[in-house]
Amino acid sequence: MVAEHVQNAPIVVASNRGPVSYRVAEDGTLTSGRGGGGLVSGLSAIGTDSGAVWVCAALGEGDRLAARRAGRRLDPADTGGYGVRMLDVPAETFAAAYNGIANSVLWFVHHLLYQTPLEPVFDAGFREQWAAYETYNAAFADALAEEAAEGAVVLVQDYHLTLVPALLRERRPDLRIGHFSHTPWAPPEYYRLLPDDVAAQVLRGVLGGDRAAFLTRRWADAFAACCADVLGAEIVRADDGTAAAVRLDGRTTLLGVHGLGADAAFLRERAHRPDVEERMAALREQVGPGRRTIVRVDRTELSKNIVRGLHAFRRLLEDHPQWHERVVHIAFAYPSRQDLAVYRDYTAEVERVAERINEEFGTPGWRPVALHVKDDFARSLAAYRMADVALVNPIRDGMNLVAKEVPVVSDDGCALVLSREAGAAAELGADAIVVNPYDVEATARALHEALLMDPGQRADRSKRLAAAATALPPARWFVEQLDALRAL
Ligand code: F6P
Repeated sequence: MVAEHVQNAPIVVASNRGPVSYRVAEDGTLTSGRGGGGLVSGLSAIGTDSGAVWVCAALGEGDRLAARRAGRRLDPADTGGYGVRMLDVPAETFAAAYNGIANSVLWFVHHLLYQTPLEPVFDAGFREQWAAYETYNAAFADALAEEAAEGAVVLVQDYHLTLVPALLRERRPDLRIGHFSHTPWAPPEYYRLLPDDVAAQVLRGVLGGDRAAFLTRRWADAFAACCADVLGAEIVRADDGTAAAVRLDGRTTLLGVHGLGADAAFLRERAHRPDVEERMAALREQVGPGRRTIVRVDRTELSKNIVRGLHAFRRLLEDHPQWHERVVHIAFAYPSRQDLAVYRDYTAEVERVAERINEEFGTPGWRPVALHVKDDFARSLAAYRMADVALVNPIRDGMNLVAKEVPVVSDDGCALVLSREAGAAAELGADAIVVNPYDVEATARALHEALLMDPGQRADRSKRLAAAATALPPARWFVEQLDALRAL
């Protein structure tokens, strides 16, 4: 297809997953579904008449078909009126870039997930995938260069698109380019697992922008430390000693921190609709009268540490028989990245461990673990509302919005057991019970303490958690970044 050099969007957003996805029905027709998440709510802040364009990838067959049929823009009826361009990257290139590099390498590095000494192995297969990642990033840079008006602001999202800022700057030096990482950033000694050239290329890619932004100060500092360690870049420090910018080869890239918060208005309205009420009734019946609930809601993701969470619950039951028949662990573990064997195995392990706990402790009238694996947002909200305790124990997490959402919609206030390795701990740590996610014993003790928390104290802490969780709603999170780039 001949590139269309439209160049009229004053704001352009780029992310792997866009705000809409398509499915091919059996009769060949396409049906669309809207995506959720902070980015979608963030974009809604700028309105549909802003001329903003969102560039995303076609993820599956339905998307590819829709992208081909649409040409440059998807049907606004499917996108809530926003200009969305879906890139029809060849399926093999997409798979190698997304499953191979983004999810099996960069995700693993930033979440410290490799099981050394067996992994990682960077071989010829890796090099092929890396070439696909470069191609995929270049396709985004081409599309962004076509869409962005003179001097436009471009917001590039996440570890899928680390090379885009530098590639786009080569094509369009007039643009103001920001990159936002939704993941943690690895400390230098772990980041250096990557082959040297790749480690440098990723950093140089992000530094190609005018700003690199993160969910917490900790990840921004880690990024700066990697730049100094791997590239020999200079870290420009603010008065308080934190990293404010990175200087390399005469260019300065500013660092920013924007702690994405929960969207209280949306969540509270959504959590009181009839479908949520219905699911609450069903969950209450499943839990049984008078029983406490410990709730967790995650994608079935290795970094979410679901198996250790189950072991901690098991330990709670073993150490404190007083909770037998009196507590149910509602665990929602929704399928994720099932193209990867390691995720499929992890999903099976979660199911096995939950089943073992039920066999070991369950009675005819009490199933201690209520595990649900079918994604259902209304049911998640129902569980949020009725949670006595929320368990959020990732090994490492950019932020973790569940930790922020539960207190916001909780009916009677909930106690939060929170991993110190979640970005959210920086904002919620004061009123959560903070744990080392690897320490199953400590997590079990924290669950016990949370269950015993005095209801008045629990409600007060939950209110403070909700206030901290909504300090930066998605719309303001988005506008803060736009303003920072416009001010350059
Ligand atoms: O944490 C990074 C992130 O991109 C999140 O924004 C999102 O929740 C998650 O990963 C989704 O991953 P995937 O698109 O692979 O399902």
